[in-house]
Amino acid sequence: MSNKTELSVSAIKEGTVIDHIPANCLFKVISILGLDNCDNLITFGTNLGSNRYGKKAIIKVADKSFEKEDLNRIALVAPDARLNIIRDYEVVEKKFVTVPQEIIGIAKCFNPKCITNNETIITKFTLVNSNVMALKCHYCEKVTTEEHLKIL
Ligand code: CTP
Ligand code: ZN
Repeated sequence: MSNKTELSVSAIKEGTVIDHIPANCLFKVISILGLDNCDNLITFGTNLGSNRYGKKAIIKVADKSFEKEDLNRIALVAPDARLNIIRDYEVVEKKFVTVPQEIIGIAKCFNPKCITNNETIITKFTLVNSNVMALKCHYCEKVTTEEHLKIL
């Protein structure tokens, strides 16, 4: 599918390509990165074939480079995302995302009694262990594990 002679989403000259996003998380990633308020040329495709997932999505943002911390915020929904930095049509750098130590917003605390589930308070977690997705709530101190993880 990622046949270079026939790209589903056109190549870009300069900018950032975020590849290997699970197809069902495309719009989440767009929202986490604030791309809905971005003036750059953005092209994207979803439900593209992928060896890694059944279906993947890709986002191409022209003439933009992102801060590492901003891109890492997508790791919760797109842990296998690949970031490709494009200069003059060439991939000059390929990076992975890592789940940040502190996660603000994005995830929901699994504890129904947590204040964040009862009042309009932005969630805040710390990553307990970087090998497993376990997030400790700043407010109730309960740990939300991957199987209970819900994205806001
Ligand atoms: N890409 C692009 N514009 C360019 C160069 C590359 O949009 N001028 C995109 C490609 O379409 C691809 C991604 O950037 O989705 C990474 O390019 P490349 O490393 O050449 O592709 P792959 O080897 O397939 O990458 P990977 O192994 O990471 O899937
Ligand atoms: Zn909580």
